[in-house]
Amino acid sequence: EMNSSDVNFSLLQNQLNVPAEFFWPEKDVAPSDGDLDLPVIDLSGFLNGNEAETQLAAKAVREACMGHGTFLVVNHGFKSGLAEKALEISSLFFGLSKDEKLKAYRIPGNISGYTAGHSQRFSSNLPWNETLTLAFKKGPPHVVEEFLTSRLGNDRQEIGKVFQEFCEAMNGLIMDLMELLGISMGLKDRTYYRRFFEDGSGIFRCNYYPPCKQPEKALGVGPHNDPTAITVLLQDDVVGLEVFVGGRWQTVRPRPGAFVVNVGDTFMALSNGNYKSCYHRAVVNKEKVRRSLVFFSCPREDIVPPPELVESKEASRQYPDFTWAQLQKFTQSGYRVDNTTLHNFS
Ligand code: SIN
Ligand code: FE2
Repeated sequence: EMNSSDVNFSLLQNQLNVPAEFFWPEKDVAPSDGDLDLPVIDLSGFLNGNEAETQLAAKAVREACMGHGTFLVVNHGFKSGLAEKALEISSLFFGLSKDEKLKAYRIPGNISGYTAGHSQRFSSNLPWNETLTLAFKKGPPHVVEEFLTSRLGNDRQEIGKVFQEFCEAMNGLIMDLMELLGISMGLKDRTYYRRFFEDGSGIFRCNYYPPCKQPEKALGVGPHNDPTAITVLLQDDVVGLEVFVGGRWQTVRPRPGAFVVNVGDTFMALSNGNYKSCYHRAVVNKEKVRRSLVFFSCPREDIVPPPELVESKEASRQYPDFTWAQLQKFTQSGYRVDNTTLHNFS
């Protein structure tokens, strides 16, 4: 049974008038006020076990995460061409006919599937985008590939294969980043965070933002914090991602070969509030299609910060115990997560 609110495809095809459901409140569509100056963290030294370079990278990560929760990584160890290939495959998917894309439609209550102009958990306004979301779990089985091939058929096997490989690489990168985050916090046990993610659970989302006649009123994705731990994001060469820092929206300019890393609410809790979950949105434009590939990491156990961050008198626990499963249920029942939600959450 198809949920029509999931697929407002025809509304997005209207290139003359933007329907009012896509207009967002004034404060949400305030224009960007300049570029965000982000550290570009070269991971090669860390990945090769160079301790001096690791410490430099960790220091830059720490500053960015304590400030606003966003940084860029380069030399992230991805097989050459894989990221570009995944972006191309997302174009191939979104370029399919409506009927073919709808074979992968999201069954209400599930994570995986295709949606268009689907209002998200945090708003009744509609986003100007099409999305393909895929629940990932380290395999075998190859869950991403199996979902896509079962829905789209054997003729479209390549889509599943490329996205499966991309998710596995992303999962590996998440492990590495979790270790670097642990180092950046000066933890005695560098693997503390990494261990929450060894199960390899994540959510992969391809975003496709068609050109929009009234970009000053619409949004590709409204302002939000990611409820997940950390998010690794690849945008194409069209600007669109913006982070709210210092009371204004600032653009995260695309940089070839770089991934954006965003801290989400779950990692904010895992850091006992030391690292900021970043508040962000995606804007659209009149002329160009924009695409992004986003990988959200989900931890397996109770969200418990390392004891050494909460032992001292000054540093008491900032958030109650919760599990990722509980938080996910909470967000899926329509609640919006923001920086204060976790305080009330249990
Ligand atoms: C998102 O935060 O959900 C999307 C960001 C983007 O497309 O850059
Ligand atoms: Fe996001």
